Amino acid sequence: EKGGFDHFMLKEIYEQPRSIRDCMRGRIYPEEGKVQLGGIKEFADKLKNIDRIIIVACGTSWHAGLVGEYLIEEYARIPVEVEYASEFRYRNPIITEKDVVIAISQSGETADTMAAIEMAKERGATIFGICNVAGASIPRLSHAGVYTHAGPEIGVASTKAFTAQVTVLTLMAFYMAQQRGAITTSKLIELLTELNEIPDKIQTALESNDIIKEVSEKIKDSRNCLFLGRGSGFPVALEGALKLKEISYIHAEGYPAAEMKHGPIALIDEEMPVVFIATQNSSYEKVISNIQEVKARKGKVIAIVTEGDVEVKKMADYCIEIPDANEAFLPLLATIPLQLLSYHIAVMRGCNVDQPRNLAKSVTVE
Ligand code: F6R
Repeated sequence: EKGGFDHFMLKEIYEQPRSIRDCMRGRIYPEEGKVQLGGIKEFADKLKNIDRIIIVACGTSWHAGLVGEYLIEEYARIPVEVEYASEFRYRNPIITEKDVVIAISQSGETADTMAAIEMAKERGATIFGICNVAGASIPRLSHAGVYTHAGPEIGVASTKAFTAQVTVLTLMAFYMAQQRGAITTSKLIELLTELNEIPDKIQTALESNDIIKEVSEKIKDSRNCLFLGRGSGFPVALEGALKLKEISYIHAEGYPAAEMKHGPIALIDEEMPVVFIATQNSSYEKVISNIQEVKARKGKVIAIVTEGDVEVKKMADYCIEIPDANEAFLPLLATIPLQLLSYHIAVMRGCNVDQPRNLAKSVTVE
């Protein structure tokens, strides 16, 4: 049942080239520059007039929401707010009929996310669900939605469900951009052609497994770990930190790299591994100066870099390469080595990777 892998988590990490392909199947038409999302097509006209999108979710699904915020604002030019379902529902949020609320949930059963949907619905918002489990409560509560089609996820730590959520949000961003005329067909052709290559690039990213194992060996006894990124690398850093803490029980924090100097920098010494998302995109130069700040304080730097990188390699203690891609797709690729890193560290520490202590696959309590 684990398909020759030692754990479900590892099997599910390796399934990602396929799960992402399944998620895109029948939804993207690269040659025509077209995205089709049958699940929300009834609302195609409504999308032309909405003022705002509110994304609600918990945990890893909330991290996917943060990636969605970058993509929807960048391409569809609709303002987006991302909220923890558990905070949103207990405020008195301002919601109108012109709002679309996107609820993201792998299980489709998370109690706080369900309660947030119910409140937003009462106040007149249109609810879109992004779920993995077909027929679960959240898809039933939503007005419309898009399934992630990642297949059953058994490992408690979310891996392939996360990348499928990010894929759906990418498709939604492009779909909304298309409906609102915010993007040209030629730009969509270019983006969808690249998106179509992402599953193969994930396959390439998985080939760094041996190097990641070596890095894991070096940092497995750390008591703390920082993850830093900028732009859409920031939610990737948050997700890397959550994966590490939940399965290896190492205290980890994700931060926007520029925020380091406002506090966390005080923690840096030779005992502190700092994982940077340092790929070659618009924030590359800035991230390099953040790496220098960490090295100046003797922190141990592990960097996720673009294939062929030379600059970061001069500074970092360990580099893990991922294929080059449009910045829009960076989270899909940069997440892969972080999943493997937390997996190997947890295995080396003798932790129960598939069923970490105190955690359950679906959180149906408030
Ligand atoms: C972390 C993890 C959790 C879930 C969270 C929300 O790996 O799996 O943080 O993401 O409990 O669950 P869903 O997506 O089922 O609503």
